[in-house]
Amino acid sequence: MEIIVSANEARKSSPIPPPDMKGAHVAGMEAYRSLVAEAEADYSGYWSRLARQFVSWKSDFTVGLDDSQAPFFKWFADGMLNVSYNCLDRQVERGLGGKTALVFEADDGQVTRIDYRELLARTCRLANALKARGVSKGDRVVIYMSMSIEGIVAMQACARIGATHSVVFGGFSAQSLRDRIQDAGAVMVVTADEQLRGGKRLPLKAIVDEAIALGGCETVRDVLVYRRTGSDIAWDASRDRWLHEETDGQPQNCEPEWVGAEHPLFILYTSGSTGKPKGVQHSSGGYLLHAALTTQWTFDLRPDDVFWSTADIGWITGHTYIAYGPLALGATQVVFEGVPTYPDAGRFWKMIQDHRVTVFYTAPTAIRSLIKASEGNEQVHPQRYDLASLRILGTVGEPINPAAWEWFHRHVGGGRCPIVDTFWQTETGGHMITPLPGATPLVPGSCTLPFPGIAAAVVDETGAELPDGQGGILVVRKPWPSMIRTIWGDPERFRSSYYPPELGGSYLAGDGAIRDPATGYFTITGRIDDVLNVSGHRMGTMEIESALVSCTDLVAEAAVVGRPDETTGEAICAFVVLKRARPSGDEARQIANELRNWVAKEIGPIAKPKDIRFGDNLPKTRSGKIMRRLLRSVARGEGIAQDTSTLENPAILEQLAQSN
Ligand code: WT7
Repeated sequence: MEIIVSANEARKSSPIPPPDMKGAHVAGMEAYRSLVAEAEADYSGYWSRLARQFVSWKSDFTVGLDDSQAPFFKWFADGMLNVSYNCLDRQVERGLGGKTALVFEADDGQVTRIDYRELLARTCRLANALKARGVSKGDRVVIYMSMSIEGIVAMQACARIGATHSVVFGGFSAQSLRDRIQDAGAVMVVTADEQLRGGKRLPLKAIVDEAIALGGCETVRDVLVYRRTGSDIAWDASRDRWLHEETDGQPQNCEPEWVGAEHPLFILYTSGSTGKPKGVQHSSGGYLLHAALTTQWTFDLRPDDVFWSTADIGWITGHTYIAYGPLALGATQVVFEGVPTYPDAGRFWKMIQDHRVTVFYTAPTAIRSLIKASEGNEQVHPQRYDLASLRILGTVGEPINPAAWEWFHRHVGGGRCPIVDTFWQTETGGHMITPLPGATPLVPGSCTLPFPGIAAAVVDETGAELPDGQGGILVVRKPWPSMIRTIWGDPERFRSSYYPPELGGSYLAGDGAIRDPATGYFTITGRIDDVLNVSGHRMGTMEIESALVSCTDLVAEAAVVGRPDETTGEAICAFVVLKRARPSGDEARQIANELRNWVAKEIGPIAKPKDIRFGDNLPKTRSGKIMRRLLRSVARGEGIAQDTSTLENPAILEQLAQSN
């Protein structure tokens, strides 16, 4: 394990106090501290109290935390519930049937509103259609869809019948999709003919066809296709079905399948430090609790709010803060199909203005790219729009640099909206370290304090707690309800990735962190493993390396590292040894492009390396281990001040440094 404490410029000036927010869910630091104390005094009791407050149980649980099989923790295990019931029926029963659940804005600006009653009816019709095709409790369904009402309905319909969904981001390649279908053993794929993003039509169904043609997807019996664009697509009548034909005529009632709290609601694949993505398995009860609880406390969500998370349902943010958390609270939320820069870079601001958005949650990389765009074009600057409806802003996915924070605070939030910089992970299910808007004084660049009940700490390699001011490894000392339960089909990998013995039972997040001695605030210093964060998208260096070396005609060897990038946070930098002589000039550029397209085809466009450098070989120790530490320095354009005496071939560094 390597700890890199990057020079994070978390601002040293005094924290910004919270605005006076009457009736905030957590109002003031005293309220925050009393929740923390409650959790410390009776950990299982604290979470059980909240689980009864936020979740409606078909039958109540008798045990909160069960740690008898640690690290395979269980929460509320003998309680029975249905997640879709909690998100939909419950709202109708509370009299919110006519309240708008989703305000869907399509890529072309067309708006569709759907209330809770209608969302419930559509979910039931699809749930019945899934059952009619033989999908039942415990089956896996892969959802390969763009942002749409239908995508959310598909997730809810799976939850309703107890099928475990696995949403695959629409930007992943056929190969990546195939790997996920195969690993999950899915019986069905739900997709769309095409997706529309930034005025362009992009294939989805054709990629599903390609994935299945690659082989290994024999478990898939049916492919359900949502007609989004109506373009011609290839059709295999033995397997392909139109979603509208399947759901038309289905009854709009469907008795929820009551499941135990530990029943797997979904699997979501994410990158780890080896080549194979991990199927992160989440529960039903504990997950839903934290989704609802954090949506309410972190965003101080109230009944008349209009919430908008710009995430995609292909990522965990789109699960917790679109498909589940806001619906479990009966909130109104905006769902967006398109991209922030189409038809121009004022799209987000215009949508906030048009829909009177009050809580806005987005990624630092989007903010940075919109800052850039607005510098070049006054027309798309947020000050050209009426953003007075905004109350609270949030960021997620990567550290937000103080300059972007200040811009977001001033120009989008009008200097009056707290920004919640939420630290969490696919594995954590929901927020872990975050300000609470009515309580926490803000420091740009810091995600501040643990959510009440989350036992975050900074330790060294032996698991010993470090004093504040000293950078180390971020861990969570106690299990929490929405944590990953296992890696699908690979419990040993779960144990070794997250509960290494030397940490004595703490959860290893994979990030470095440092706490401020004066405030106790956390600043995340970045991953300590071979995981990159590019535009908030998580990528394993090994995944990209295996994609490169699988281009066996060209590539002999490859090593991938990250380097800081102004817009995307980190950029992918690949060092490649070809099977032919080291190219230069036009030839090098042309081969680099070929390799980028190869990686896009193997994994997806988000994995394309920004820099590709060719060398005669790679820096290696005498025992043949690639010295990534040195490659990181070369990628950053730093001089090689480090010790290179253990290198087999020190001259290679010079060559790689010049091969840009
Ligand atoms: C990794 C998790 C959380 C949902 C989206 C990403 C980084 C996430 C922050 C933040 C600093 C952050 C970490 C983490 N990260 N949020 N507020 N400040 N870093 O989920 O794809 O599982 O990635 O994103 O490195 O480990 P993910």
